[in-house]
Amino acid sequence: MDIGKLSVETQNQMNELFSSILLEHQKVNKIKHSKEEDFSSMEDAIKSYEKNKGRESFFPYLSSGYGHGPFTQLIDGSVKYDLIGAMGPNLLGHSHPLYIKSHLEAATSDVMTCGNLLNYKEPLRLTEEILESVKNSRLKHFWFAGSGSFANDSALKMIWQKKAPKYKVIAFNQAFAGRSIATQDITFNPKYRENMPKTLEVCHVPHFDQKNPQSSLKRTLDALEAIWKKESESICAITIELIQGEAGFVYGTKHFYKEVFKWAKEKNLYIWVDEVQTFGRTREMFAFQMFELDEYVDIVTVGKALQVCGTLYSEELNPSPGLIAGTFNGALATIIAGQKIVNYLRKGPFYGENGRIHQIENAFLSSLKKLSETTCKGKIKYYGGIGTMISFEVGDSDKPSTINFIKKLYQNGIISFIAGDKPTRVRFLLPLSLTDEHIKEIFAIVEKTTLDLF
Ligand SMILES: Cc1ncc(COP(=O)(O)O)c(C=O)c1O
Repeated sequence: MDIGKLSVETQNQMNELFSSILLEHQKVNKIKHSKEEDFSSMEDAIKSYEKNKGRESFFPYLSSGYGHGPFTQLIDGSVKYDLIGAMGPNLLGHSHPLYIKSHLEAATSDVMTCGNLLNYKEPLRLTEEILESVKNSRLKHFWFAGSGSFANDSALKMIWQKKAPKYKVIAFNQAFAGRSIATQDITFNPKYRENMPKTLEVCHVPHFDQKNPQSSLKRTLDALEAIWKKESESICAITIELIQGEAGFVYGTKHFYKEVFKWAKEKNLYIWVDEVQTFGRTREMFAFQMFELDEYVDIVTVGKALQVCGTLYSEELNPSPGLIAGTFNGALATIIAGQKIVNYLRKGPFYGENGRIHQIENAFLSSLKKLSETTCKGKIKYYGGIGTMISFEVGDSDKPSTINFIKKLYQNGIISFIAGDKPTRVRFLLPLSLTDEHIKEIFAIVEKTTLDLF
């Protein structure tokens, strides 16, 4: 046996298994509604899970473990369009060949997970691939984390170590950085940290205002200056989501970001970009690349669509060894998938002005425009977003009626989620596996649901 290589016989068996798994999943290829009795027995199973978790589920959803492309099958036999992708991770679509392949390759390994003490070649390959994809920036290292929140915690610690005793951070209104003990203070919504002590001092400033683009930059720079006057001795960094997910996909312009980042650099602050939700999903692989900010970023966090989470950072921010460590890099299947995903995204037809992601964005925005100007006039008043992150507002854009809409849309065969508070938006995190025919069907359902409810 060659070292690290499977025998030809095992490889052949794996190839056969790969084909048969893919063929089985491919049967899940259109919307299907369930029978009443099948739905009831699924509801019973969901109730048991709710009891275990101590909280109700937002949707009556229990996956059968089968799905293909944009379609997911539930244990009641129903099939829906999954346009939220597990809150972002499922960028390629259900049962993507690279996911199946990654599982099979991981199954041939001698371990389930790998970590920082004993190196494996799979995390080596992933770090090579992802660092190659940011080679025009100063990001030179990657460290694995167990979640997006933990990747952000690592970023914060690396910054703190270089800037001690300056520990305050500038963040943006409506930000979401996670729910760890540190990131919950960057996260803007106070409901997410009820009764929590403050562990991190954060100064929030306004993000880009899409309704007032002309005055946005001045408003943000004025707020930054006001903070700087009081806090210049205690601030270490500015952290930002270039496209704010929880806020319903709020984003600025190249000019806005460049000016804000120039301001931060003049003040000698580190620039920390949170790409946990945006990684893979914009018109370039990273949102900072789409906005041409390569020269500014010092530290960038990723997660979700990569299948593993981590922190990319400059030479200067490389911490002393004791600061950042941990048992796991992650599960082998997800690490193998992470490398394959970055490679596939880099080499495939996805990015740039004519890439598939821009085409999907255009198809969704033009369909929403059409509805808002014709049959759903006055009922869909806002639509927006970028890349595979699309949002729109229905009715009066309030939370209760948007939740009601999302639940009705779910019954009609489409899974979405909410974003934002005032206004509340319907949020899609779209898979790349959508075809133009799927998009047509999706908008027939969005139209029907809007007209039924408003
Ligand atoms: C921008 C952003 N940062 C951080 C996180 C936290 O990631 P995780 O849920 O993996 O901890 C999220 C999760 O939604 C996010 O959207």
